[in-house]
Amino acid sequence: MLNGKRITVGITGGIAAYKAVEIVNWLNKSGAKVQVAMTKAACSFVTPLTFKTLSGNPVLTDIMDESPYWHVPHIDIADCDLFIVLPATANIIAKAANGIADDLLSAALLATTAPILCAPAMNSNMYANAATQHNLAVLRQRGWHIIQPETGHLACGTVGKGHLAAEEDIKEEIQKLLAPADQPLKGKKILVTAGPTYEYIDPVRFIGNRSSGKMGFALAQAAANAGGNVVLISGPVGLPDPDGIRIIGVTSAREMRDAVIREYADTDIVIMAAAVADYRPKAALEKKIKKSDEQLRLELVKNPDILKELGQDKGNRFLCGFAAETDNLADYARDKLIKKNLDMIVANDVSRDDSGFDVDTNAVTVYYDEKEISFPLMSKQAVAGEIIRLIGKLLK
Ligand code: PMT
Repeated sequence: MLNGKRITVGITGGIAAYKAVEIVNWLNKSGAKVQVAMTKAACSFVTPLTFKTLSGNPVLTDIMDESPYWHVPHIDIADCDLFIVLPATANIIAKAANGIADDLLSAALLATTAPILCAPAMNSNMYANAATQHNLAVLRQRGWHIIQPETGHLACGTVGKGHLAAEEDIKEEIQKLLAPADQPLKGKKILVTAGPTYEYIDPVRFIGNRSSGKMGFALAQAAANAGGNVVLISGPVGLPDPDGIRIIGVTSAREMRDAVIREYADTDIVIMAAAVADYRPKAALEKKIKKSDEQLRLELVKNPDILKELGQDKGNRFLCGFAAETDNLADYARDKLIKKNLDMIVANDVSRDDSGFDVDTNAVTVYYDEKEISFPLMSKQAVAGEIIRLIGKLLK
């Protein structure tokens, strides 16, 4: 599993740096291509020569290092299959959470797009401090994998939580992160909708909503990562097209309905994360409305309920809806689950500032059969991963 994997190990200045020696040795023996980067403080605990010997590669310690292999060291070491920070001091955690890039390791962490595994180790009060906990929560929300420290005798003489996680646990986590991706949706056609719909009043004004498309795009990507053949139907959003996914752009609810129906016949799974406008102006005016009277009345008519229509012709398909709710989450979501004949509904709590519309994070509860699963606040990518995993499990 580790054979040929490119792994960057960032070592920071704590006594637990000596424990990284065995991990680097194990990675190298397992066939991984290991690149070690050390902070200045880390070099006071273990020498670069130790890691050079065990990794078989030169060790970088400075952002200005001249290297025979790289043009820009912090960018090159960022390009890997897994980035491990071991041990992670409170300092590197704080720098990463705040986007500070003032040395080789912090700059590489900002530049990497690889999964990041972070193993904190420090004094227990420093670990428990609200600042450190906040920084770890920020990193977790950005998708970092944090392996909890253990409770034990610390180098500073106290007993508490801050001991680097056990070697075996770290190795297991590394293997888990590098395991070939499970592809539970291989061979399935998945239709995902995302974003808002715009219902034009006149050529320059519309009724819309704050959906950014982030949740739907994350779902499309997660479904593609799970092996699905994904078609993403999106309302107007400002997001880049995801790689390897067929995307169909629409504007209004009726356009979205038509695009969905065109794709529906051979679809296996539908995930409707789009915030479809329930109403539209009875007639969109061809010319811009001029300001005249004190009041302007708009007559609205109902838009098609796309998901309900799909539910009426469900066949063997799996239908997953979303419910954006501010209150009575469970009741409203379950009601939609039944009325739209769905297999699953994901309710987001949109009363929170950090969840739902136009933010990077979401807190959701998933309802299916008589069951429910609540997930804590996570990045939309992590939420999407959980939903796709659950759908894969239910399809089995
Ligand atoms: O785009 P983001 O900024 O990332 O925000 C994500 C989100 C909050 C928009 C998303 O997570 C979400 O909750 N989407 C559904 C919002 C919504 O319209 O909920 P609803 O309760 O009104 O609709 C229930 C379901 O019916 C939804 O799956 C919706 O797509 C579908 N629907 C609604 C109306 C309609 N006319 N046709 C539909 O198919």
